Amino acid sequence: MALELAPSPALAPLASERPRAFSGIQPSGIVHLGNDLGAVRNYVRLQYDYDAIYCIVDYHALTTTHDGTLLRERTREMAASLLALGLDPEHCTLFVQSDRPEHTELAWLLATVTPVSWLERTPTYKEKKLNQPDDVNHGLLTYPVLQAADIVIYKATVVPVGRDQAAHLELSREIVRAFNARYGPTFPEPQAVFTDAPVVLGTDGVRKMSKSIGNTIDIFGAPELIRKQVMSMVTDTKRILRTDPGRPAVCNVCQLHRHFGADYEEIWDGERTARTGCVDTKKLLAERIIAYYAPARERYLELISKPAMVDEVLAAGAARLKPLAEATLAEVHAKMGLR
Ligand code: AMP
Ligand code: TRP
Repeated sequence: MALELAPSPALAPLASERPRAFSGIQPSGIVHLGNDLGAVRNYVRLQYDYDAIYCIVDYHALTTTHDGTLLRERTREMAASLLALGLDPEHCTLFVQSDRPEHTELAWLLATVTPVSWLERTPTYKEKKLNQPDDVNHGLLTYPVLQAADIVIYKATVVPVGRDQAAHLELSREIVRAFNARYGPTFPEPQAVFTDAPVVLGTDGVRKMSKSIGNTIDIFGAPELIRKQVMSMVTDTKRILRTDPGRPAVCNVCQLHRHFGADYEEIWDGERTARTGCVDTKKLLAERIIAYYAPARERYLELISKPAMVDEVLAAGAARLKPLAEATLAEVHAKMGLR
């Protein structure tokens, strides 16, 4: 199945009356199936109806990544990936967070209305503290404040993300309320928007798909890699024998088939009645994922071979946002009593 892109309406100017959408994604080096099904698909859809702004969050990445050369490379790779998956610079604004340093200034200003206790109880902070006990840097704690600044500096109201970001979005809303209560109505409360796959489980079938866990399906990987990853997937653990009936509702492979073919109910039925075995169902899934992403992968490989083109898109994106970011900062300065 070809990667479907929505039709292209006429380009609307950035300062239109359309509601604004914003999302950020870490330059993690690969785009996995969870990123696409959980978030990026919505980035693509929203760009036609919203003033859509998408950001590669390299400042955030510094809380966990310390290799500058790698970070720079991965930032460009993420940009190429997003463009390959259907972000169209004529319909959305794609940029790199550190190209708009106003985000970090606003993060400081928002930090002054944010109680430390809110940050300490954030689930991702608690998780990262355990994951990297030797590097519990201040950036990890203040991460959600920068995320709130990313969104509200453009006064975005709609934020396409996976469910793992729900707590961060709730915190953004609380920060907005705290700011508005202290300095008067300034920012709208942003709302998370989910796809129909808000949490995609990894190949282990238990935890969410995540690069840091190593349970991903890499959609731009070579076909052999995708086959290997899909074949390693844990299915229904109670189905021991080939003749045992399966339980598609708890089988991650069956769940993923939902997104890669209209015949998924038939596939589920095959599993339920033991007409088909897990291996067949996995083989079919791997081939469908490979075919589905083949056109995007081709675009990705082409884009990554033209780094100047990608850099140009990113530079234009950042330039386009400058007046918006500056206007918000000016308004905030005035309200807070800065000169
Ligand atoms: P990250 O790579 O953590 O920056 O994630 C980028 C976007 O993908 C965020 O909106 C996440 O919520 C979303 N995402 C990441 N992993 C998953 C997953 N396993 N299932 C659904 N959405 C995800
Ligand atoms: N924290 C998000 C993630 O890990 C990335 C992010 C940074 C973001 N700023 C954002 C997401 C603003 C939505 C809006 O995926």
